[in-house]
Amino acid sequence: MPEPVVIQCREVSFLYPNGVQAIHNISLSIYRGDYIAFVGQNGSGKTTLVKHFNGLLKPSTGSVTVFGEETRDKKVSYLSRKVGYVFQNPDDMLFSSNVADEIAYGPRMLKVDPELVEAKVESILQELDLKNLRDTHPFALSLGDRQRLAVACALSLDPEVFVFDEPTTGQDFFGSQSIMGLIDELHQKGKTVIIITHDMPIVAEHAQRVIVMNKGEIALEGSPQEVFSQVEKLQSLSLKAPQVTLLARALGESSRTILHIPEMVDWLQARFPVTIKSGEELPHV
Ligand SMILES: Nc1ncnc2c1ncn2[C@@H]1O[C@H](COP(=O)(O)OP(=O)(O)O)[C@@H](O)[C@H]1O
Ligand SMILES: [Mg+2]
Repeated sequence: MPEPVVIQCREVSFLYPNGVQAIHNISLSIYRGDYIAFVGQNGSGKTTLVKHFNGLLKPSTGSVTVFGEETRDKKVSYLSRKVGYVFQNPDDMLFSSNVADEIAYGPRMLKVDPELVEAKVESILQELDLKNLRDTHPFALSLGDRQRLAVACALSLDPEVFVFDEPTTGQDFFGSQSIMGLIDELHQKGKTVIIITHDMPIVAEHAQRVIVMNKGEIALEGSPQEVFSQVEKLQSLSLKAPQVTLLARALGESSRTILHIPEMVDWLQARFPVTIKSGEELPHV
C-alpha cells in the first residue's frame, strides 16, 4: 500500500517581489518515509520550492498542503513542528549566545516544560557530539560544528519531515560522511527526508527518489537508477551522473546503471577475471 502523502504541491508558482518567477506550476506529492534528493543547476528553484514545505514562502498561485493543512494561513512556527528546515548557510538560522540555548530555543518558544527541554537538549548534545561545546558561542564554532548545530536545532522540535538545503557544502569528506550518516539515521527512524545537493555520488548512495529541477520546473524524476541512466538528458541539464556510472558506460555496460563502487568492482571482476596486484600493469582491454 502506498504511504500517505505528507506534502502536496498543486500547480505551485512563486514570484519574488522583484519580479523573478522562481517556480512555475509545480505539482508534486511527497510520501511518508520518502528520501528525496533535489538536484539542479544553481538558480533552478530548489531552495525556493523547499521553503514552501514549512511555510517560509507561500505560493503566489497554487497550493501547498502539509499533513493535509494548507500552508497559506499557517505560521512558520506552527509548520516547523512538522517540517524542519535546515538552511544552506547555518549562519542564517543561528542567533543565540551559546550552543545549548540555540538548541533549546525552538522548544522554549513552543512553551515545552523546562525540564523536558533540558533533557531534550542534553540528549541532542550527546547525539551530535556537541557536549563539549555547549557553552560556546555558535559563531566561534567551525563550519562543520555550526552545520551540526543547525541539524541539532531541527532535531529539537522532532518534526516528521526534515529538509536539508545543501547539508554537505563546504564540508570535507569526513564531515560529509558524518552529516549524511545522521541524515540516514533519521530516515531509518521513519522520518521523511528531503535533501538538496550538487553531489551526485551522495544522491546515488543515499536517496531513493531524485527530482531534477531546471528553470523553476521539474525536468526529470525517478529512482537514482532511472535518473542516472539518462546520461544525455542530464547533460542537457548541465548535470552529470556519478563518475562510476559514466565509467561503467564507457566500458560498455548498457543493460543496467551502475551507481556504486562495490557494484562496479563486481562487474569488472566478472568481465575481466584477473587479479590485479598493486603496481602491476593493467591487462589490455
Ligand atoms: N530573495 C530573492 N529575491 C529575488 N530573487 C530570488 C531570491 N532568491 C532566489 N531568487 C531567484 O530565484 C531563482 C531560483 O533561486 P533558488 O530557489 O535560490 O535556486 P537554487 O536553490 O536552485 O539555486 C533564481 O533566479 C534566483 O536568482
Ligand atoms: Mg539553493
